[in-house]
Amino acid sequence: MGLDVYTVLNDFPALGQLVHGHYPLVYLDNAATTLKPRQVMDAMNQYYRVDTGNIHRGVHQLSQHATEKYEKTRTTVQRFIQAESPDNIVFTSGTTASINMVAQGYVRKRLSPGDEILITHMEHHANIVPWQMLCEQTGAVLKVAPIDDEGNVLLEAYEHLLTDRTRFVSVGYVSNALGTVNPIDAMIALAHARGVAVLVDAAQAVATLPVDVKALDCDFLAFSGHKLYGPTGVGVLYGKAEALAEMDPVFGGGDMILSVTFEKTLYNRIPARFEAGTPPIAEVIGLGAAIDYVTEIGMAHVASHERGLMQDAQEALQAIPGVRIIGTSPDKAGIVSFVMDGAHPHDIGTILDSLGVAIRAGHHCAQPVMQRFGIAATARVSFGLYNTQADVDHLIAAVNKVREIFA
Ligand code: ALA
Repeated sequence: MGLDVYTVLNDFPALGQLVHGHYPLVYLDNAATTLKPRQVMDAMNQYYRVDTGNIHRGVHQLSQHATEKYEKTRTTVQRFIQAESPDNIVFTSGTTASINMVAQGYVRKRLSPGDEILITHMEHHANIVPWQMLCEQTGAVLKVAPIDDEGNVLLEAYEHLLTDRTRFVSVGYVSNALGTVNPIDAMIALAHARGVAVLVDAAQAVATLPVDVKALDCDFLAFSGHKLYGPTGVGVLYGKAEALAEMDPVFGGGDMILSVTFEKTLYNRIPARFEAGTPPIAEVIGLGAAIDYVTEIGMAHVASHERGLMQDAQEALQAIPGVRIIGTSPDKAGIVSFVMDGAHPHDIGTILDSLGVAIRAGHHCAQPVMQRFGIAATARVSFGLYNTQADVDHLIAAVNKVREIFA
């Protein structure tokens, strides 16, 4: 049995609103952020209404309940991504924080001037800028694996760029701008063959396909809650035990220590040593509810549902005169980026919004991808588990309307 989309629609109150007189909302901006099911909001409300307490600190019941729920989510995440142990799971504020943490805490101390960090041409800014900052700090050099006209990484070129100076590889699993699903297992194996550790940016992947860190054998993996039907302000850094053991904490403060004197501070065990200060407790609990929600449906079902909608949308868009798809890899998740003769992506986005269809227009925090294709921006459609065939029909009718207006 696949995903019966009509059984989940009622879980998402945001869908039931009028947008510029249109109902229901056709929400096709899931790569930017997903809508949240009631179950997530209920779990967070329960924390704020009843269980409000700080974690790991109190002897009282509220603190204990909050701690139990917070730590339970660690196990939920562990199972969701097939990690070895809950100790492999660090809560952060999101993918961006996770990547910066690895850059500063793990990679920085391994770099000498002239050493190399390898990424690809299709990375999100969150997987570019932290490495550029690190290169400025250390004299290391950022290398970029090229992509072809369909938006696939050129694997041979990637392999060629793995040199004896390569100290770290950081690659996106699914491109948020193109939809490409990268051959991440091959890329990891090639890096490991040269003794190079790999971080996988799974911000886009985690909500759209089953992720298995053991099968991937990645050293680190980062993702955010808000693209996975969970709250903003929370994310995850997975690390292999030996990788986390070699990572220094980047943030110092409460809860990440065993003891503090002015002479010497001893850090807490892993993963607590990477979670300084009061964390986003309600958000972690909400993330747990979001993962329970998608697990119940099954990520394999979500993946095939979204791919089906993507293929239908891509085919129908391609058939509209003047439309060009940006990112035509044979292996794509539920994302279609496109441009249209005579209509700027922002105009497309604005007209679609007036018709009750929400998409994103812009560079999608991936300006080098836009540069690669010689454009400034695209209009981007990205599917979620609650989208329907009717949403695709509305989208296509709305894009045809844009064509009429600009013809
Ligand atoms: N990175 C998010 C997107 O792709 C915000 O829209």
